[in-house]
Amino acid sequence: MSALSERPENPVVGVREPHESAVGHVTGAALYTDDIAVRGGALTAWPVQAPHAHAFVTDMRVEKALAVPGVVRVLTAEDVPGINDAGVKGDEPLFPTEVMYYGHAVCWVLGETPEAARLGAAAVEVDYEPLPSLVTIREAIEAESFQGPQRLTKRGDADAALATAPRVFEGVTEFPGQEHFYLETMASLAYYDEGGTLYVQAGTQHPSETQEIVAHVLGLTNNEVAVQCIRMGGGFGGKEMQPHGLAAIAAIGTSLTGRPVRLRLNRTQDITITGKRHGFHVSWKAGFSDEGKILALKATLTADGGWSLDLSEAVLGRALCHLDNAYWIPDMEALGRISKTNKTSQTAFRGFGGPQGVFVIEDIMGRCAPELGIDPAELRRRNFYVAGQTTPYGQPVRHPERMHEIWDQVIETSDFAERSADIAAFNAAHENAKRALAITPIKFGISFNVAAFNQAGALVLVYKDGSVLINHGGTEMGQGLHTKMIQVAATALGVPRSAVRLAPTRTDKVPNTSATAASTGADLNGGAVKNACEQIRERMAGVAATMLRANPSDVRFSHGTVTALGQHATLTFDEVAQEAYLQRVQLSASGYYRTEGLHWDAEAWFGSPFKYFAYGAAATEVEVDGFTGAYRIRRVDIVHDVGDSLSPIIDIGQVEGGFVQGMGWLTLEDLRWDASDGPNRGRLLTQAASTYKLPSFSEMPEEFNVSLYERAHEGGVVYGSKAVGEPPLMLAFSAREALRQAAAAFGPAGTPCDLASPATPENVFWALQRAALQNADMRVDAPTADAAAEPSLARS
Ligand code: MTE
Ligand code: MOS
Repeated sequence: MSALSERPENPVVGVREPHESAVGHVTGAALYTDDIAVRGGALTAWPVQAPHAHAFVTDMRVEKALAVPGVVRVLTAEDVPGINDAGVKGDEPLFPTEVMYYGHAVCWVLGETPEAARLGAAAVEVDYEPLPSLVTIREAIEAESFQGPQRLTKRGDADAALATAPRVFEGVTEFPGQEHFYLETMASLAYYDEGGTLYVQAGTQHPSETQEIVAHVLGLTNNEVAVQCIRMGGGFGGKEMQPHGLAAIAAIGTSLTGRPVRLRLNRTQDITITGKRHGFHVSWKAGFSDEGKILALKATLTADGGWSLDLSEAVLGRALCHLDNAYWIPDMEALGRISKTNKTSQTAFRGFGGPQGVFVIEDIMGRCAPELGIDPAELRRRNFYVAGQTTPYGQPVRHPERMHEIWDQVIETSDFAERSADIAAFNAAHENAKRALAITPIKFGISFNVAAFNQAGALVLVYKDGSVLINHGGTEMGQGLHTKMIQVAATALGVPRSAVRLAPTRTDKVPNTSATAASTGADLNGGAVKNACEQIRERMAGVAATMLRANPSDVRFSHGTVTALGQHATLTFDEVAQEAYLQRVQLSASGYYRTEGLHWDAEAWFGSPFKYFAYGAAATEVEVDGFTGAYRIRRVDIVHDVGDSLSPIIDIGQVEGGFVQGMGWLTLEDLRWDASDGPNRGRLLTQAASTYKLPSFSEMPEEFNVSLYERAHEGGVVYGSKAVGEPPLMLAFSAREALRQAAAAFGPAGTPCDLASPATPENVFWALQRAALQNADMRVDAPTADAAAEPSLARS
């Protein structure tokens, strides 16, 4: 327990509050960027997208576009007064002369209406000189096309340990990326205020970086640009880096025309222009003892970075830091590298490389368990961290007992043993349908790996009437951060929730903020909001003390009343605020927070980059149809550790949503690019919801039990809570493992099963066919998992 984590009596945190915009979301009253844009007669920006995976732009003629009625201007590289780059690494030209992927925007047309802009874009004539391209990760590995530094994480001597390990397995694990498919596509609106400040309202998880990029593209200083984000209709990591260049396009348009400019990608543009989760190719070798203790792991991880780096290095870093998941691996050596391919620039996506790292070890566990003759649940449990152990990168694993307790709770509340027996009986009785129940753990590190990002600011205003307005540096994308911040402020000031309002995130209110990412939004901004509120409360306690004739340290604030220990007299918060004003005591404060105790040496790949680990476990039951590979998710049981929850309804929603999004990635969503040598090479084939299958109500588990781990206080974090946004996504590995086990059940007992990704019905079908082949009487030809993973239309 620390001053930061301790809760007062009757806190407003921990109360089951609805999302602050819940009513707005369902009635349509909640405003998003483009809702504001359409009010003000703004010009619309429309991209001209290249029809080549890789090509030089040899000529561009805009006259015909300018002749289209309603077209105002065509924005090209000549219009950039500052730096022609959309990123922070200098490898993302905003207006490229070399097309790096199919759909790359080469210029933008401004029109009075979206229709005029669209017709104008169609009339721009561009000449290309096509170049050879690399579309799949395997092509990139073959061509040794890499970008950014390679990273090595190493403990002990993996080679030596593998040489002596009693059981050694090796394999290749390959899995695709994932489209964010946030409901609100990328949107920004730029305009000048009367003082000449360039304002950009944007759907961005990182307003400060959007501000910086807009400033450097326009050759301005940061104080000449202000970025605001009211809310986003989902970000999921996709709006951490990629909104910046698009905001800069709108800003250039405004600076040239003096008019407001809106840019909102339609779904096809968004899905073909913006980056996705990184797919990975991993080759690995793992050594086990006869008892199923993992002794050593050696792996090479290649992330498919797409055409530019943006966040790929950090994503790869988090993958390497999550290769262990919840397991103690004494000797480990893993090389990480980023391929450069002619595809969208792959970027942050919920879990940020963590899911990719965990994928590898969970795949190894699931594939090796039958070979070892050990039940997969038992194999996993046997390898959990115990007290005193450290991760391969040297961080002590605090509270490993939580993992054990959570696991046991899921085993118990899901009736794991009894249902496993029922399933065995069901499978024995059904030749053409098989069920399986699998349980997987998650241990996920919280904090940005880059220590400097772990800071936050807030600005809290108390008005004379006692009403409170809070500003903080975090953004709202549906995850409920604003709701939590209101609850934190109400708790810290001792006022009811209804007394607190929250202002949209703006860079001219709170400067130099970090992205709302790495699930740290509530930890960081909560620390800053609490700090600001406490400054004000302390000053108000001085005022109340004189009013109550008490010592300031005896003054208590709770739910809008102010009292002193041992006294009957009661004041209202409003009265004290009024009196503070009259006494000329400051009623506003800026708050600040930095996460203590973090250190990380990226060169040595060593340190303690995480404040703590979030733990969870999920048990999922599936039923697979042997004729088609189609399956149902029959039941999911989850226990997840959010510390002492700041807002239980929000947290449960995050766990449910994270699980379903993870299930989408692992079992349904199938990104495909044209990898043929035809004219559309490099084109994303799955450009819409009609061809890109997302989880929806019909894929929800038939029974879905989510509970939060209890008595989970986390000392050193705001009001004892833990981050929740990303970790639950990785609980979905239980669904993939259940599908693997169900497919294997079509073969004789103990059949190993290699399941290609994503585990679509098609891939499950081939897996169960291979398993069934092991039965002596089956003579069906099924392709290997490797062949199944390489159809002519290759994956990410
Ligand atoms: N939940 C909703 N509804 N929408 C989102 O876009 N993004 C996720 C997660 N949960 C997201 C979400 C991601 S990628 C992160 S990093 C966290 O929320 C960010 O918010 P937090 O730091 O406040 O948890
Ligand atoms: Mo989340 S991927 O860190 O925005």
